[in-house]
Amino acid sequence: MSSSTTVYAISGASRGIGFAITSLLAQRDNVLIFAGARDPAHSAQLQALAEKTGKVVPVKLESANEDDAAALARVVEQKAGHVDYVIANAGIAEDFNNPVFSAPASSFTKQFMVNAIGPLVLLQQLYPLLTKSSTPRFFVVSSVAGSTSFAATAPLIFSPYSVSKAAVNNLVVHIAREGEKDNLVATVVHPGMVLSDMGVAALKGMGIPEGEGIPGIPALTPDESANALVKIFDEAKRETHNGKFLSYDGSEIPW
Ligand SMILES: NC(=O)c1ccc[n+]([C@@H]2O[C@H](COP(=O)([O-])OP(=O)(O)OC[C@H]3O[C@@H](n4cnc5c(N)ncnc54)[C@H](OP(=O)(O)O)[C@@H]3O)[C@@H](O)[C@H]2O)c1
Repeated sequence: MSSSTTVYAISGASRGIGFAITSLLAQRDNVLIFAGARDPAHSAQLQALAEKTGKVVPVKLESANEDDAAALARVVEQKAGHVDYVIANAGIAEDFNNPVFSAPASSFTKQFMVNAIGPLVLLQQLYPLLTKSSTPRFFVVSSVAGSTSFAATAPLIFSPYSVSKAAVNNLVVHIAREGEKDNLVATVVHPGMVLSDMGVAALKGMGIPEGEGIPGIPALTPDESANALVKIFDEAKRETHNGKFLSYDGSEIPW
């Protein structure tokens, strides 16, 4: 690996937005991308991308699994010695339309673990390697669903997902503040309404007829979302991005 190689680690790279980000980054020169997937051996498109580009290293990574994240850190250490960008993208969205009065506690716990504790564990295990970078960056692909202001008036019933994303948003505020001493830039991003498996299932869960979107909200392809997010990743600076909650178009979202 050359000393000018930019090193990325991303979770949820098997499909959807995570795969689109990984594919886009892999088109660049001088990059090495550690691509987390729950079952990398059976993630055909990720394996194909790795073979084709030689710049993607598929790694087993179950959200919130400390052993997996520690093993990822060992692979990164061995192959790259540091990481420049950590992108916590893996997520689940379940129990849309299940009222807060009856949604099972287990649904809150499950989504909290994957969506909030997953990014925490990933960062904790990679932090020593991230702080070896001259430009350490941490991004969480969260959601406007985690905006408390949005939740107060949202036309959706989605409390378990929303609470888990609000938690991870708050977590990033702590990370941004405590990471300042290490020159870290930590940012929450909302990828837009994206027609990935999750996005399509969410629309269905909301009772929106197939082929239609949420009125007034553009529906993006995973590639369109990835393009917008990677632009944010590239441009992120401490003064403008640290501790911020940004939509895919760069605009700030109220907490
Ligand atoms: N799509 C949207 O409209 C939208 C809107 C706002 C925010 N987001 C956020 O964007 C991120 C990416 O979502 P997406 O739309 O690309 O969803 P997706 O198509 O459903 O892909 C989800 C990814 O997360 C991985 N994942 C799920 N559970 C996991 C676990 N327990 N451990 C490790 N990986 C796990 C999946 O891996 P497997 O292949 O192994 O299942 C997959 O790679 C999520 O954080 C989501 O909340 C999406």
